[in-house]
Amino acid sequence: MKNAYISGTGYYYPPRVVTNQDLVDQYGIDTSDEWIQKRTGIKARHFADEGVGSAEMGHHAAKMALDNAGIKATELDMILFCTLSPDHTFPGSGVYLQARLECPGVPAMDIRNQCSGFLYGLQTAAALVKSGAAKHVLLVGAETHSAALDLTTRGRGVSSLFGDAAGAVVVSATDEDRGIQHIVLGADGRYGDVLCQKIWDITKRPFIPLDEDGNGVVSPEMMWAHMDGKLVFKNAVEKMITSLAAICWDYKMQVTDLDMVLFHQANLRINQFIQQTMGLDEAKVPSNIERCGNTTAATIPTLLAEQVEQGKVEPGMKMGMAAFGSGFTWGAAYLVW
Ligand SMILES: CC(C)(COP(=O)(O)OP(=O)(O)OC[C@H]1O[C@@H](n2cnc3c(N)ncnc32)[C@H](O)[C@@H]1OP(=O)(O)O)[C@@H](O)C(=O)NCCC(=O)NCCS
Repeated sequence: MKNAYISGTGYYYPPRVVTNQDLVDQYGIDTSDEWIQKRTGIKARHFADEGVGSAEMGHHAAKMALDNAGIKATELDMILFCTLSPDHTFPGSGVYLQARLECPGVPAMDIRNQCSGFLYGLQTAAALVKSGAAKHVLLVGAETHSAALDLTTRGRGVSSLFGDAAGAVVVSATDEDRGIQHIVLGADGRYGDVLCQKIWDITKRPFIPLDEDGNGVVSPEMMWAHMDGKLVFKNAVEKMITSLAAICWDYKMQVTDLDMVLFHQANLRINQFIQQTMGLDEAKVPSNIERCGNTTAATIPTLLAEQVEQGKVEPGMKMGMAAFGSGFTWGAAYLVW
């Protein structure tokens, strides 16, 4: 059986930076830099311009990952696109990315697992490669949150947290003793409504109510994401700790044996709490949330690509990853670089 390793990484942020103060000055939101930083660690995020979507940002990140892997898009055996903000309801953003990459015929599929999407995708990519079904899989996490945030005081509890970005990796086959060792995933759909965006309701006829002129009417409750922040915080801490511990237990390791741990970037305070609770050295837990907010499926691949670019990831390094998000869904991974 082949091993599966990450042969290339890439990331992309749209150029426009929106600071916490910009949320006050440009959008008129009743918030403050102090409130947001104190609770989340976020200082700024990137917002894509109108006309730019997840497939386009994913394309930038994918090109960088393919270049770093030294392969052409036509050599791919699969494209996996993780997002909760696809360009359209259907088809998925995977096929739009495939068209941009000019590799017709390469299968493309979307993974809709929110903040855990990248780890669900990594499990899928590793399984395809280890089984021999694929030699190279492109795995992209990309989000265009800025188009779907209630950027008013009413929506501040959610809209101050999120930003736009794309991250990508290529997962390739190798005979070397390295790569993706183990991934655990979990979900608990009983909490599906705790963090959700119900832009339409397919149980309704029609699925979006119509006004008397036949135009769709979407109420604010349907249009914007809803979140019970405290419940999400509590469960994120618990599930990321237990899944990372489960990975280490399976490999007879201490969490402190890991050389680097990449946490989903939802809230710096969540990650600091986990890092301190698990006795992890702060230097082993990089973050980028301060600069870009929560970018959902893009958090881990952007963070990884930045660490690689900065020369901080060495061959043989033991790396952990952990994520938690809407669904609830969660997971952790153990890799040897
Ligand atoms: C979102 C989060 C920062 C909110 O912090 P909190 O301490 O739970 O704050 P609350 O939601 O209880 O709100 C407290 C008050 O602050 C207000 N508030 C919310 N967002 C605000 C903002 N951006 N600026 C100023 N005030 C804000 C609320 O309206 C509320 O006011 P009220 O008491 O007058 O009703 C925190 O719950 C959190 O980070 N949760 C995890 C979120 C997460 O990780 N989501 C993604 C998962 S993948």
